[in-house]
Amino acid sequence: MSVWALLVAAGTGERLGADRPKAFVGLHGRPLLAESLERLDASRWVDAVVVAAPPGWEEPAILLAEELAVTKVAACVTGGATRADSVRAALAEVPEDAAVVLVHDAARPLLTDGVIERVLAPLAQGWDGAVPALPLADTVKRVLGDAVVETVARDELAAAQTPQAFVASVLREAYAGDLAGATDCASLVEARGGRVKIVEGDPRLLKITTTADLELVESWL
Ligand code: C5P
Repeated sequence: MSVWALLVAAGTGERLGADRPKAFVGLHGRPLLAESLERLDASRWVDAVVVAAPPGWEEPAILLAEELAVTKVAACVTGGATRADSVRAALAEVPEDAAVVLVHDAARPLLTDGVIERVLAPLAQGWDGAVPALPLADTVKRVLGDAVVETVARDELAAAQTPQAFVASVLREAYAGDLAGATDCASLVEARGGRVKIVEGDPRLLKITTTADLELVESWL
């Protein structure tokens, strides 16, 4: 069973206020992308990796892979305008005979083999996909502008992370359709009636959005 990992790294990361895309902002003296790329490459569960780089940053991404001496990068594609477009571009590089596709945000550097194992396991039990998620600590309100519309039952909510794993054919079908509004892969699979399992997430898989997030993740390294 071959597992292909798509590492989406094409976001601009405007909220970091850096002079370069988020994937190339420094984390412990290396581009952020290096951390997840190295971890995916080292994972015994992953056979090949496709990187979606920001437009104009394909060359630096390839050079980084060479510097890290990673061996599983099969392709580096140009990312799209949205995350979903970047996933679609990377998915086009996955061969027909791949069994499973794992999709991971480069913005979540602290990937572990444990979480990869947790999202892959349900696929062998007939699930179409699996997503790591964390319970919500805060009470969640549905709002319209600054007015509360309602309070949502917290025990029915979970915050989804990546890596997300899917049966390859299911993900391909999901990405053949309309991608509008999709902020993760699972939502597209769910919209087509796919069965997606929630598995235990990892607080250290925090998605880096702000400088404070970057400092926090750096302190965990
Ligand atoms: O924008 P957001 O933080 O949700 O991005 C999540 C992941 O998707 C990041 O790793 C980012 O690099 C990637 N992304 C992408 N192409 C885009 C936007 C985001 O690959 N156009």
